[in-house]
Amino acid sequence: MLYLITSNLNKFKEATLVLDEFGLTLQHLPIKKMEIQADDLQEISEHAAKVILEQYDKEILVEDAGLFIDTLNGFPGPYSSYVYRTVGCEGILDLLKDETKRIASFKAVLSYGRPEKGIISFLGETKGQIVKSIRGSGGFGFDPIFIPNGSDKTFAEMSISQKNQFSHRMRALKRFAEWYIQHTP
Ligand code: IMP
Repeated sequence: MLYLITSNLNKFKEATLVLDEFGLTLQHLPIKKMEIQADDLQEISEHAAKVILEQYDKEILVEDAGLFIDTLNGFPGPYSSYVYRTVGCEGILDLLKDETKRIASFKAVLSYGRPEKGIISFLGETKGQIVKSIRGSGGFGFDPIFIPNGSDKTFAEMSISQKNQFSHRMRALKRFAEWYIQHTP
């Protein structure tokens, strides 16, 4: 049985829909992952997976994600959760208020581990633009200010299944699912 470790129910719902397409069932372990401070999503995600594996005798998935804004040299990136909690979407819009270059990407690193085996990680990335004002009320985090390339809606204006056609999380999960199906007897 595969467990997704997250305190974010939205992430769990998104992941369940993606893995379901591969015939994989996901369980939710609603605990807050341990987050070290580092500049690299993979380091954060793999460290969290290692700590969880020491406590739980289960097959686990841990994810660390962030919003990387080109013109801010990738900020807030791995600090997205802190920046979201402190200044939120408005704070980002404020930082970009006179900026015409609004390219950004969401990245997610998904780390899979099972007891007494190594941890393996999968990256998903979605490029897009930061809008000028908040749009939509769905989703979570920076969803209301991000439009993925190929869409005219922000993630917050989409249903979960629409977001899953574009999202960084879906891309990491698909890479994982393809690997998992090949490597699991
Ligand atoms: P976490 O540490 O992986 O939970 O994510 C860090 C922060 O990035 C979250 O608090 C959100 O603000 C933001 N984030 C990550 N993924 C998404 C997403 O799919 N939509 C919107 N914001 C996201």
